[in-house]
Amino acid sequence: MEYNQIQIATQQAEEILLDLYNIKGSASKLPGEVDFNFRIKIENSEGYILKISRPNEDENYLDFQQQLLQHVEAHGQQLIAPKVINDKNGASTATIIDTFGNTRKVRLLTWISGRVWSSVNPQLDCLRFSLGEQCGLLTKALQGFTHSEAQREFVWDVAQSLWTKEYNHLFNNEEKEIVSFFQKQFEAKKTDYDELRKSVVHNDANDNNVIVSKALINPSVKAAIDYGDAIHTQIINDVAIACAYAIMNHNDPLDAVLPLLKGYHSTFPLQEKEVAHLYNAIAMRLVISVTKSAINKIKEPNNEYLLISEKPAWKVLKKWRAIHPDFAEYSFRAACGISAHPNQQRFHNWASKNNFSLTELFPTINNNETHHVDMSVSSIWIGHQQEFNNLDLFQFKIDQLQKEFPSKIIAGGYLEPRALYTSTAYDTIGNKGKESRSIHIGIDYWLPAYTPVHAILDGEVVIAVNDAGEKEYGGLVVLKHQVQDFAFFTLYGHNTVESVLKHTIGDRILKGEKIGDLGNYPENGNWAPHLHFQVLLSLFDYHIDYPGVAYLSQINVWKSICPDPNLLFKSVALSGNNSMSNDEIISYRKQHLGKSLSLQYKTPIKMVRGAGQYLMDQYGQKYLDTVNNVAHVGHENYNVVKAGQNQMALINTNSRYLHENINALAKELIETLPPELNVLHFVNSGSEANELAIRMVKAVTGEKDMIASEVGYHGNANMCIDISSYKFDGKGGHGAPEHTQIFPLPDSFRGKYRGKNTASDYANEVQKCIDNIQQNGRNVGGFIIEPIISCGGQVELPEGFLAQAYTAVRKAGGICISDEVQVGCGRLGKTFWGFQLHDVIPDIVTIGKPLGNGHPIAAVVCTQKVADAFANGMEYFNTFGGNPVSCAIATEVLRTVKRDKLQENALEVGSYLKVELKTLSKEFPIIGDVRGQGLFLGIELVDANLNPLAEQTDYLANRMKDHGILMSTDGPDYNVLKIKPPIVFTKENAAELLFYLRKILNEDFMRL
Ligand SMILES: Cc1ncc(COP(=O)(O)O)c(C=O)c1O
Repeated sequence: MEYNQIQIATQQAEEILLDLYNIKGSASKLPGEVDFNFRIKIENSEGYILKISRPNEDENYLDFQQQLLQHVEAHGQQLIAPKVINDKNGASTATIIDTFGNTRKVRLLTWISGRVWSSVNPQLDCLRFSLGEQCGLLTKALQGFTHSEAQREFVWDVAQSLWTKEYNHLFNNEEKEIVSFFQKQFEAKKTDYDELRKSVVHNDANDNNVIVSKALINPSVKAAIDYGDAIHTQIINDVAIACAYAIMNHNDPLDAVLPLLKGYHSTFPLQEKEVAHLYNAIAMRLVISVTKSAINKIKEPNNEYLLISEKPAWKVLKKWRAIHPDFAEYSFRAACGISAHPNQQRFHNWASKNNFSLTELFPTINNNETHHVDMSVSSIWIGHQQEFNNLDLFQFKIDQLQKEFPSKIIAGGYLEPRALYTSTAYDTIGNKGKESRSIHIGIDYWLPAYTPVHAILDGEVVIAVNDAGEKEYGGLVVLKHQVQDFAFFTLYGHNTVESVLKHTIGDRILKGEKIGDLGNYPENGNWAPHLHFQVLLSLFDYHIDYPGVAYLSQINVWKSICPDPNLLFKSVALSGNNSMSNDEIISYRKQHLGKSLSLQYKTPIKMVRGAGQYLMDQYGQKYLDTVNNVAHVGHENYNVVKAGQNQMALINTNSRYLHENINALAKELIETLPPELNVLHFVNSGSEANELAIRMVKAVTGEKDMIASEVGYHGNANMCIDISSYKFDGKGGHGAPEHTQIFPLPDSFRGKYRGKNTASDYANEVQKCIDNIQQNGRNVGGFIIEPIISCGGQVELPEGFLAQAYTAVRKAGGICISDEVQVGCGRLGKTFWGFQLHDVIPDIVTIGKPLGNGHPIAAVVCTQKVADAFANGMEYFNTFGGNPVSCAIATEVLRTVKRDKLQENALEVGSYLKVELKTLSKEFPIIGDVRGQGLFLGIELVDANLNPLAEQTDYLANRMKDHGILMSTDGPDYNVLKIKPPIVFTKENAAELLFYLRKILNEDFMRL
């Protein structure tokens, strides 16, 4: 029958609605494969969906649908599901005769408001968990429901999926391999699979059938709609289908399954044997999907939509193929709270009844006890990255330790987060950004090169190779041990290649026989000689390069697959480091540390190591740091660390004794400054620097009155707070004190005066402050401002403003301070100091944060005139200021900036970043302004009316953290993202930052 003879117009739909249900509403067409569907809108109600069948539609099928919905309504107490509305006569399915005399069936269901899964961005773990929960609840509600139609033949039923085999010829070779691999896997386990629990299930929680709440932050799944594919089948198929769609477009599909599975299991507990078939069931649903697409493509070769829709299915299928089915199963088991490896308990039981000694493993060593060495990312013993990468030094330290404990074997490392593996070679991009493979899953025994390693029990050689994959690891042997009713493996890494290649696969090695000799470097992968010993309950398909370190997110699975080898030896001293948990640290802080100290991020992070532009937490996870302008030349810059350590080892006293370090630092600074600024005072913090600067103002002018900018911050000491509008105009503040005059934030984007030519307007405001002071019969002391106002939200001063302000202040007898605590030492790129951008020369410059790269040292530079006036006879004594250690450190910081051309780097990388951020602002109008200089940039988020968007800014910073990028927010309205990383930040780092900014800006909460 012609389509236009059976289609229903919206007006007709509205008439049918009124006629059959006595409901008045406006209808709009919805897509539908079989039925003609209309959304019915009614004021003050969620509305309905009206479904009008094609002529002669299968009545039994429609009856099945209606009964199923009625069953869910009756049994699914916590469930939201479409409800069946009966017609005027009480019938759940009504009948009409259309204009062509055909019988048509009509059904009316309640509408569920929300948005479809496919439109939600981001789809986070908690959303997938709630999808699982809802699907589980639905399955629970459907238990006991039967209908003859539920037993039908159906191509989308995973249980019937082997029909796809007939179509493998439609695929290219790679595709064919994948599809037939899964078909074979499925077929091989079919007998067990056929025995699994069955019931009627929804069977189609695809990304357009799942309704998500409208909340843009932490939305949850409300309901699964469209029960058209419901069928009586294995319950695990229902889980598989929800998974197959919910894992599309994620980097790591296996990781994406887990929260969904947990959610399902929480409302409908799954059985161990069901979970064993999930990997195949997910695959087969995807195989059905790509096969249907391939068939449809032949029917409609020009239908581009078909091509687009099959792409994500193929992408995920290819990734799925790369996951070992057993590993997937173990991960699923762990997600359901079952021991990840089925033999975990067996191994534990067996190991507890059998004792082995280290003298059996290393007969030539004759030591049976161990001394635990902490090689975790937070270990002080391993020290600086550069030092533990220095093999000779590392070996020396091991030897020293061995001398200290001559009767013990230096060992450890099981479940230790290793800094050794935090180089980018061990990174992957997971669903939440970068993750480092950092958790060690074996034990290392640090022993001399060529120490013989012997078998502790009989085994069969299953691997004996030169373990040279991406990296070289030396000779690797894996033995298989058959014990009682299961087998396990022991792995021996970093032997000499020659000693392990003596074995042939399949050889038996008896207890006491030699396995190999420990390799030396470089052969063993450039480590100090040691045995990496690991127990494996599964070998998977590895022949080489078996993982010795695991991703943190998979650690529960890996520690079940690779149990603690010490279960065999039972050495006492092999436990990890005993550092406090984050919760313990937080609760102690809360009780015993200053109550107004704050913590960054909703879930605070414990940082244990810094390296260049990265920080690392205690699990070895790396964060790209765009916040820390203190770690100016890179976190734990080796030369700076060394300079401090070396000087600390000699002497650290106050500046009343002669020492050349203080002179050297003064010279290093003076070199960067205009000739007028050539007297230095060293202090310990930016606050102390500004405090001293204000004392100098008073000494020079005899006046107390200071002029400062709105939202300025100059430190935490008394006088600093008095000139910091950021503090006294903020929470807990009491407004400007009598001797402080505040002029409006010179922000030409959203400030009092806007646009390009605002310099004079803001300078007039400074003049008004001067007038105010004079009207009170006093005179100006000093004027203080940052060259780019940091807490104000990286506000660049309008061009020419500073020169005009300085002129006005000086005319009134005041002196000018440039607060360079944030921006100094080359960060701004074009110039070494911020005031140089504005062609002015201040009377005093205060320097802080970057000078010590994290060590507390700050400085006040002034003119001879200021210094002379300050030296009025009262000694300026500072216990710590200018001590040899601090000066050695700061000198090295300045030399590093100069030697490594880091000012130039700040200019180059900062300019690139700024240009790209401006481009981003065209794509995302939420970015109202991009500003700053060098590596001191700000991004201001506003709506179309320039209203600040603080929540979005906070969201963006927190989501960036989720992706391993640290950012800070600031500004009077908390709507500015600040970028001020260590100035070793590279273009690649900038590109990564931009990549994730774009990704998050695309998320629902960020769309205007
Ligand atoms: C511009 C400015 N001046 C002074 C200070 C005070 O420095 P410190 O915290 O080292 O005392 C800060 C600190 O954030 C600052 O941003």
